[in-house]
Amino acid sequence: MAKQVRVAFVGSGGIATEAHLPSLKEIDGVEIVALCDAQKERAEAACQQFGGRPYVDHRGMLDGEEIDALFVCLPPDAHTDAELMAAAKGIHLFVEKPVVLSMEKGRGIAEAIEKAGIISSVGYQLRYTPVADAARAFLADRAVALVAGNRWGGIPGGPEHWWRVMERSGGMLHEMATHHVDFIRYLVGDVTRVCARYSLNVLKNVENLTVPDAQVMAMELKNGATGYFSTSCALTKGGGWSSTDVILRDMMLRMTFSEIQVVPEGAAEIKLPPPGMNIQQAFIHAIHTGDRSVIRSDYFDALKTAEVTLGANRSAVTGKPVEMELV
Ligand SMILES: NC(=O)c1ccc[n+]([C@@H]2O[C@H](COP(=O)([O-])OP(=O)(O)OC[C@H]3O[C@@H](n4cnc5c(N)ncnc54)[C@H](O)[C@@H]3O)[C@@H](O)[C@H]2O)c1
Repeated sequence: MAKQVRVAFVGSGGIATEAHLPSLKEIDGVEIVALCDAQKERAEAACQQFGGRPYVDHRGMLDGEEIDALFVCLPPDAHTDAELMAAAKGIHLFVEKPVVLSMEKGRGIAEAIEKAGIISSVGYQLRYTPVADAARAFLADRAVALVAGNRWGGIPGGPEHWWRVMERSGGMLHEMATHHVDFIRYLVGDVTRVCARYSLNVLKNVENLTVPDAQVMAMELKNGATGYFSTSCALTKGGGWSSTDVILRDMMLRMTFSEIQVVPEGAAEIKLPPPGMNIQQAFIHAIHTGDRSVIRSDYFDALKTAEVTLGANRSAVTGKPVEMELV
């Protein structure tokens, strides 16, 4: 068997314990060595379930443990120096989306990753779906007129949750719909310019909530296509809607993350391939083999997605369009 990849986490909350750790437990050649969370009881509970030693401070963990790969599963405003420390120690990085709240910080981390030569992967798992494979191949040599995305739903967590504070999460477009914006970038290509308008109209009296309850972002794409994305978190009693539609000449693709519908019916046939490696398997495989081609979104690519939604946040404040600098 290949050498064990010694894995640690900073942030042992929802995504760490419900998605990454259970998936890593299924992969041969992985050893969970340490789990850190600012809430001691969370770190301890996660270690009881998945193994490893608990920490409340990632600096102590990174200095005290032999670690090959660090998963950073923190709320957007809690990214301090874990990525930089890991890169300086040659530790490979898996970072949850959205990777940052400020481009300056993101550029610093991207430079440190490049300088260290470590492997990086970001939690855009939709890129690993059969729909992404099929749609990306289908769209590769076809001109697109319009790409239209929507994500409408409610507010996660209670009044104390970091998500509802704009300065902590970056808002629904940056924090949640980042998956869809990234999916659009992966299928249709880079975004060069955005212009956005936000409002907080129907949820303005909700305790502690400062994220907009409606966001609309117009996008110009590098390949000449036009797009838009809308979000709303006003459906606080349940229900919601999520869609990505791409209009080409004489045909439209209507996509969920598990299906592609071609309209009008019969205009083209798109077959979904069998599923490949999932996002955790791909990261571990890349570390074991050195083959980075299996990673669908590295840190720099993810930073380009963050630039789009942070650009929209800036545009919504200034009223002016924002050009992407990384494209
Ligand atoms: N890829 C996906 O589909 C997906 C799904 C859910 C969440 N996420 C992302 O994962 C990140 C975390 O989300 P979550 O749902 O797990 O949040 P969460 O609130 O459930 O967990 C975050 C954990 O980080 C801990 N924490 C905060 N500051 C810390 C610090 N300085 N040091 C150590 N621990 C600290 C908190 O105590 C908490 O336990 C977010 O960026 C979110 O967008 C991704």
